[in-house]
Amino acid sequence: MTKCEAPAVRLTPRLAAAAALVRKDRIICDVGTDHALLPCYLFSKGARRLIASDVRKGPLDAARENIKKYHAESGIELVLSDGLKNIAYAEDIVIAGMGGELISRILSECIFFNADTRLILQPMSRAEVLRRTLYKIGFELLSEQTVCEDGRYYVIMYAAYTGKIKEIDELFAYTGKLEDKEYLKRLADTLERAADGCANSEPERSARLKALLEQIRKV
Ligand SMILES: C[S@@+](CC[C@H](N)C(=O)[O-])C[C@H]1O[C@@H](n2cnc3c(N)ncnc32)[C@H](O)[C@@H]1O
Repeated sequence: MTKCEAPAVRLTPRLAAAAALVRKDRIICDVGTDHALLPCYLFSKGARRLIASDVRKGPLDAARENIKKYHAESGIELVLSDGLKNIAYAEDIVIAGMGGELISRILSECIFFNADTRLILQPMSRAEVLRRTLYKIGFELLSEQTVCEDGRYYVIMYAAYTGKIKEIDELFAYTGKLEDKEYLKRLADTLERAADGCANSEPERSARLKALLEQIRKV
């Protein structure tokens, strides 16, 4: 009897862009894996040392189903963990689909980063907080890209550990290494609305945001 083949794993453009940055021959951890589609996809592309972790049991049950469906049991370990707390070690760490503040907290609590650590991050909000945190805990951004999915722009950051702590300026915190004109235009528009919204209650903050958005418009 022939063993049935695993179906192909299909990723959305957002997760496909994150997956493309992962080194398949490394120990890979997908934090907040939910459905575990990303590790299942990486397994189908040859990765064999994968950890799929989540803070809740429900997503891990869904992940287990998918791992079975895609015949990836031999390469993916499931771990119940708040961030990286129960993860002994990983080299390529993916954290996608969470807020920038939560990702910052998870990274700040990790104790095993070294020169071989790479981060692939996709914050849903507060990208500026995450960039500041990255440089504060010794990472450097290697590249950033935007992915447009269903009319919404997502930022994907790729960072390496250097151990050098650096403070970044306001413009870099908001724009990082991004050059996508449409994304930057939307960012400036969002900041303009925020500046207008606090013009009376917080005039100083409003002026700071206006100065920043003018800088972004020049970029
Ligand atoms: C919106 S889903 C994103 C799933 C997937 N990473 C993606 O980008 O499609 C967020 C997942 O993160 C998990 N999560 C939230 N806080 C977490 C934490 N502190 N540690 C680990 N996982 C967490 C949630 O349980 C949920 O499954």
